Amino acid sequence: MDPLTYRILHLAGVMVLFLGIGIALLPESANRKQGALFHGIGLAVILVAGFGLLAKMKLGFPSWVIAKLVIWLLIGALPVLVKRKILPPAAGWGVALALGIGAAYLGVMKSF
Ligand code: HEM
Repeated sequence: MDPLTYRILHLAGVMVLFLGIGIALLPESANRKQGALFHGIGLAVILVAGFGLLAKMKLGFPSWVIAKLVIWLLIGALPVLVKRKILPPAAGWGVALALGIGAAYLGVMKSF
């Protein structure tokens, strides 16, 4: 697949992930399972397309990608942290946004 396809897939994964987080963190939602499904599918698509991009763009394995993997893991853990009441839902959304913006910054700037 060409790098642009991976790029669109990567961004599609981000959209599915955030749609899922929005629903999965709602305390009273009847659709929480649907949210958890989108959250998981989004994460998987982001990871596969991310590694596809790395390979097709011949970027190697720079430190900013390790930072993105950590962000990926943290966003993956968010629903559990909210479910166990370690974080309130509103804080979960805020943290998700901050992490997502951080991941976008790293992907665009490729700074270190
Ligand atoms: C939740 C986690 C992540 C989010 C929200 C995210 C988001 C983004 C965004 C918005 C971009 C900019 C795309 C563009 O320039 O058009 C990007 C680029 C990129 N991401 Fe991610 N990403 C995440 C995780 C990952 C992971 C885990 C990897 C690697 C395994 C990865 C690899 C890349 C690469 C290589 C680029 C550069 C693409 C390019 O220059 O065209 N990302 N990411």
